[in-house]
Amino acid sequence: MHSSRRVALVTGANRGIGYAIAGQLAERDIHVVATARDVEQANRTATDLVGRGWAASGVRLDVTESDTIAAAVQHTLDRHGRIDILVNNAGISDGDQQPSHIDVDLAARVWQVNVLGAWQCAEAVVPAMRTAGYGRIVNLSSTLGSLHHMTRSTEPAYRVSKAALNAVTRVLAAELAGTGILVNSASPGWVRTDLGGPNAPRTVEQGADTPVWLATLPDDGPTGGFFYDREPLEW
Ligand SMILES: NC(=O)c1ccc[n+]([C@@H]2O[C@H](COP(=O)([O-])OP(=O)(O)OC[C@H]3O[C@@H](n4cnc5c(N)ncnc54)[C@H](OP(=O)(O)O)[C@@H]3O)[C@@H](O)[C@H]2O)c1
Repeated sequence: MHSSRRVALVTGANRGIGYAIAGQLAERDIHVVATARDVEQANRTATDLVGRGWAASGVRLDVTESDTIAAAVQHTLDRHGRIDILVNNAGISDGDQQPSHIDVDLAARVWQVNVLGAWQCAEAVVPAMRTAGYGRIVNLSSTLGSLHHMTRSTEPAYRVSKAALNAVTRVLAAELAGTGILVNSASPGWVRTDLGGPNAPRTVEQGADTPVWLATLPDDGPTGGFFYDREPLEW
């Protein structure tokens, strides 16, 4: 089967910014494959979106489990015949530690989710996007991952992982130049979520805006860039 709607796969779509991204994509008449580690939570997001009159389905995907990435992509292709958009939203932080004294196991978990998880999801969708000659890959980075702005020491493993994720954006964009697949990083700003905390100034809807803009870029849109509020951000 080949869906007439564009299809977007969103990781960590069960809560926070990922949930808002899923909603903003769905309201643009894109079928959202809402993925989450817990399939019931993925299904709950999909049910919410369908209840609002939009197209969505829920699929289990843990970015640290390669087989779930492969299965989610295969399920989407079997059902829709296409994956137009990947939003690598899933992310975790190491919170309060200092870079001169890190918990290596925690840093490795952050790396596994934020860098290798996102990278493997991209790897899994590229073949179908290449065949279609169309793709949008959005990596949820952070201003905390900007080397230019990296003047503080908080959340060191998170910062390092987001700088590395930006490098993944650059190398993938370089490889895929001219294929119709655009790869970009987004900083959502400081957003009120479990990760961002209650004092963050932004809503999840505001945080979702730039990622959704990058996920729906026209064919002559940028690739290999880093954006905040739809404007280039220093690496
Ligand atoms: N909030 C901010 O201020 C802010 C600022 C800059 C960048 N960001 C980035 O924006 C993205 C979303 O952040 P958020 O604030 O919405 O965070 P959040 O509310 O803590 O949500 C994190 C999401 O990631 C999912 N996740 C964690 N580990 C996963 C795994 N192994 N496989 C699949 N999903 C996994 C979580 O699923 P579970 O429910 O199963 O844990 C949850 O859906 C992250 O990449 C974050 O780094 C956020």
